[in-house]
Amino acid sequence: MGTKLIVAIDGPSGAGKSTLSKALAKHTGYVNIDTGAMYRSVALLANRQQVDVADEHALQRLCDGMTIEFVRDTEQERVIVNGEDVSQQIRTPEVSLLTSKVAAQPVVRDAMVRLQRQMGEVGGVVLEGRDIGTVVFPNADVKFFLSATAEERGRRRYEELKAKGVEVDLQQTIAEVEQRDAADSAREHAPLKRADDAIDIDSTRMGIDEVLDFMLQEISAREKRE
Ligand code: DC
Repeated sequence: MGTKLIVAIDGPSGAGKSTLSKALAKHTGYVNIDTGAMYRSVALLANRQQVDVADEHALQRLCDGMTIEFVRDTEQERVIVNGEDVSQQIRTPEVSLLTSKVAAQPVVRDAMVRLQRQMGEVGGVVLEGRDIGTVVFPNADVKFFLSATAEERGRRRYEELKAKGVEVDLQQTIAEVEQRDAADSAREHAPLKRADDAIDIDSTRMGIDEVLDFMLQEISAREKRE
């Protein structure tokens, strides 16, 4: 694979974006940029520093002063913020909830989009998020829009939590997925939206390997055309 493309994967939470972009990065040698982790990191710092999410100036200062790196070791990808490994802390329910609010703030979006463009403009990247193909890289070489029904995504999340020993209710988990979808789609700035030229993939009844094969074929076909 010679040409270094920009690959965008957008879609709602729980559709399999993280798993697939990591697998894609591994197969192609591309760098994976988890943009959700970037918004989560801002929320984590805001929470720790007790920054009011409605205070634009404080959020701006926080974003200006922060560094984010993605470090891949053999097994997993770690998120390093201001030199600290925050990979676990950014995944708590408390931070997840706060992230939706932080990610709706234009100052935060502007700062993160700028960073994402800097990280991605050289190519050889897979960016996953909600607005990659529409806002961050409208000229991305390959755009995927990955979805699955809310029920299926809630069920996957439920199984994931159960496997970790967390006590959860299936119907409540599905309801939370629906709430998050509504918040991400209805927000004023950069809502979750499919790009007109995105390739649709509904993963409700597809296994990870099947989706991965399809994506790799699309990327490889595009690389040959470049
Ligand atoms: O993909 P995730 O669950 O880690 O995303 C966390 C939150 O960040 C979610 O509420 C959507 C938001 N997000 C966003 O607004 N724009 C992105 N490019 C990525 C995530």
